Amino acid sequence: MEWVEVKNYEEMSRLAADLFEQQLSAKKDSVLGLATGNSPLGVYEELIRRTAEGRISFAEATSYNLDEYVGLGAKDETSYHYYMHDTLFSKIDMPLSRAHVPNGEAADLAKECSEYEAAIAASGGLDLQLLGIGVNGHIGFNEPGTSFDSLTHVVKLTESTRNKNSEHFPDGEVPEKALTAGLQTIMNAKKIIMLIFGEEKAEAYERLRSGEVTEDFPASVLHLHGNVTVFYGK
Ligand code: F6R
Repeated sequence: MEWVEVKNYEEMSRLAADLFEQQLSAKKDSVLGLATGNSPLGVYEELIRRTAEGRISFAEATSYNLDEYVGLGAKDETSYHYYMHDTLFSKIDMPLSRAHVPNGEAADLAKECSEYEAAIAASGGLDLQLLGIGVNGHIGFNEPGTSFDSLTHVVKLTESTRNKNSEHFPDGEVPEKALTAGLQTIMNAKKIIMLIFGEEKAEAYERLRSGEVTEDFPASVLHLHGNVTVFYGK
């Protein structure tokens, strides 16, 4: 893994956006794996700015988000559909028909998961996957104990993750389940960028840096991937 220490959040966002820019310059029809949460907000701002400046274009790109809460749809302000539309998709030139987020309102969730996985494969697989990390080492919504072989699946969220994410829910009612790309889905990406920023992530950073590979700490699977850049800072 390549470890890049950053001076501040802005630098992390710029450097990660540089990797997106390189990816899109090398392959206009790149397939991008995207994340929600606080970590990627600065990267998305950079990508929006660079799109407006004409430096990059998503016109031929495709994206697949990591996850979505079960029961929430595009109109729910706390859904990841809403977050992605509001934060990025409405501000770049990627056709919405190619901006994918798992459907948390699907009647048959297992079918939604297998179709999502198949759609990623049919697009040619992920060229670049952007990740944040949970304090317990989760990536996507793959909580500790998730099999490294997992594909897109339904998960029961841990109390720690629900408590952390409750800040985004005005009523404090965080859904109990979510759909998430699996650890194998993430590992199938050709290149992976991991963002770890802030004091609250220091312990997760140390554990990842230790090199231990265990399903108790999902992000540790990344040690088995040949092309990962980790940006970290406080
Ligand atoms: C979001 C996701 C999660 C977050 C993680 C960190 O799509 O998959 O794994 O990346 O919970 O969240 P933040 O960046 O808000 O600290």
